Amino acid sequence: MVAGNWKMNKTLQEGVALATELKQTVVNPKCAVVIGTPFIHLATVAELLKDSPIKVAAENCADKVSGAYTGEVSAAMVASTGAEYCILGHSERRAYYHETPEILREKVLLALENNLKPIFCIGEVKEEREAGCQNEVVKAQLEGSVFNLTAEQWANITLAYEPVWAIGTGLTATPDQAQEMHAYIRSLIAEKYGKQVADDTTILYGGSCNAKNAAELFANPDVDGGLIGGASLKAPDFITIIQAR
Ligand code: 13P
Repeated sequence: MVAGNWKMNKTLQEGVALATELKQTVVNPKCAVVIGTPFIHLATVAELLKDSPIKVAAENCADKVSGAYTGEVSAAMVASTGAEYCILGHSERRAYYHETPEILREKVLLALENNLKPIFCIGEVKEEREAGCQNEVVKAQLEGSVFNLTAEQWANITLAYEPVWAIGTGLTATPDQAQEMHAYIRSLIAEKYGKQVADDTTILYGGSCNAKNAAELFANPDVDGGLIGGASLKAPDFITIIQAR
């Protein structure tokens, strides 16, 4: 899978223009293609892409079902737009909006209850990598929010390993660093759900992945694609990355 995460970029009109450009070019991709857009774009972009292989993701959803939560958007609302995926646990949401493992556990369950497929993000910060405890951090993130799921629920989960020090910094993880962590994550899934489920789980790499380095990253056996921030905002770059998968 190659998934874009537009973050807080693009007006509705700019988003429609980008989605239209992608739709024209991405007609028969060799991998799953998803674009994560701001909430307000979802209904329009999902309608625009309904006959396209490109699927649409929200970048977040509420941890509550419905009711008096001003400004929040529920998983049911996201699903009603035609979006099929929901990015959850992004490090920016953990850091700036104080999303805890417990909150994320609720969000994942609500997304699944509403037939949304979570793209669940995990990854260590720079200090944790420097201290050599990245494996413990990632393990705790999985145990805290998604290892409570049944194997049946797990089948709808995509993981994205996004080392925080690599996001938006131009400092990409080396292919070896990515492979090492992805293999470790897959071993944890195997311990929990068995080897077959682990082999079937899609684990994306995210963090300064771009048109130049995507092929090298994706060449690793445990790197099943990418979650792309900045480089997903320009159609030619995003298309090059899709073709690298
Ligand atoms: P960049 O590709 O801009 O580093 O962002 C990665 C990311 O956070 C995707 O979710």
